[in-house]
Amino acid sequence: MTILSPKPYRLTVDLGERSYPIIIGSELLAQGEALRTAIAGRQVLVVTNTTVAPLYLHRLLQQLQGYTVATVTLADGEQYKEWQSLNTIFDALLEHHFNRDCTLIALGGGVVGDMTGFAAASYQRGVPFIQIPTTLLAQVDSSVGGKTGINHPLGKNMIGAFHQPRLVVADTATLNTLDDRQLAAGLAEVVKYGLINDPDFFLWLEQNIEPLLSRSPDHLAYAIERSCRDKAAIVAADEREGGQRALLNLGHTFGHAIETGMGYGSWLHGEAVATGMVLAGRYSHHLGKMAHSDLQRLEALTARAGLPLEPPATLSAERFMALMAVDKKVEQGRIRLVLLRGIGDAYIDGAVDEGALAAWLQETLPSPA
Ligand code: NAD
Ligand code: GLY
Repeated sequence: MTILSPKPYRLTVDLGERSYPIIIGSELLAQGEALRTAIAGRQVLVVTNTTVAPLYLHRLLQQLQGYTVATVTLADGEQYKEWQSLNTIFDALLEHHFNRDCTLIALGGGVVGDMTGFAAASYQRGVPFIQIPTTLLAQVDSSVGGKTGINHPLGKNMIGAFHQPRLVVADTATLNTLDDRQLAAGLAEVVKYGLINDPDFFLWLEQNIEPLLSRSPDHLAYAIERSCRDKAAIVAADEREGGQRALLNLGHTFGHAIETGMGYGSWLHGEAVATGMVLAGRYSHHLGKMAHSDLQRLEALTARAGLPLEPPATLSAERFMALMAVDKKVEQGRIRLVLLRGIGDAYIDGAVDEGALAAWLQETLPSPA
């Protein structure tokens, strides 16, 4: 499979008049043309955080000369994905008298992207925004598709809105400063696309996980492009998650229970999703849907990517079930799970037998410490 691409990859999320480009390549922060084309008016608010600002903010600001630019630098961490941070963004917009023609730019990982998108969705009932994702997870998932929001102490991402960006720019060079744990967390969402409906990509990942972990720029750019292409196709078919977009939640019902149960920021989102996908695979196998050989492939790739297979020993089956019942994938009072018939063949089970699931969790989870 050829993966070298000297030029940036360009693809489109096809959503009619709300369609937008995703541009993927190295050193794109030094090229502002696409950015300037996507900025609607003259006022720009850049939202970033205390980790990303010293690394990349100046490069972005160089591309924004001639605009009225304000910046908000938020505290770093999943635990800050909440009302107070959101209000800090609104404070800046109002203090600078930004009007409905302003554009917000999210410079950072998924936390900054989700919050900036939600601020853009709600400021003056909706203003444009641009995603400049700087983590692998944000480049392959959170920056694409228009899900925005914040956490609530009782549930992950429970407050939010659909609001599509005008442009996504994924500069792969920014991944060089990401730590190994964060890189692996991003790979969890990459593996997810192979598992959902792209078995050839899963195979490619099995063959190329080492170059990805050692940050080969060509391998990373290819994996990001393929992930975004897979996600864009699903989002274009079902923007508001009326049906197949729910497949993108593979591993998330278990994963969100881990994230919320352990306290935001303790497990990384991608780590929780990785373990969640393994649990979804194990439960699918338990139900007789997925072959043991496919489960073994899933577990082996997860382990090779440096991701956790086992859920935390401190979460009991009862707590897991209670947390999963709050998750927004619950429909009409029933837990909805994304399960697997095999690698590249995910399906939505909207009629989960909760008694059977609880009994299986009881059997399979490590005993609470
Ligand atoms: P994150 O935003 O917390 O970023 C991870 C860490 O990396 C942070 O400490 C951040 O400051 C740092 N960082 C960011 N870019 C860096 C860089 N280039 N170099 C060094 N450090 C850098 O976490 P994340 O994994 O990017 O995103 C997770 C969030 O995304 C969760 O809140 C999750 O719910 C959300 N999410 C949203 C969607 C969606 O569709 N909207 C999809 C998946 C995940
Ligand atoms: N990350 C799930 C979605 O975008 O739908």
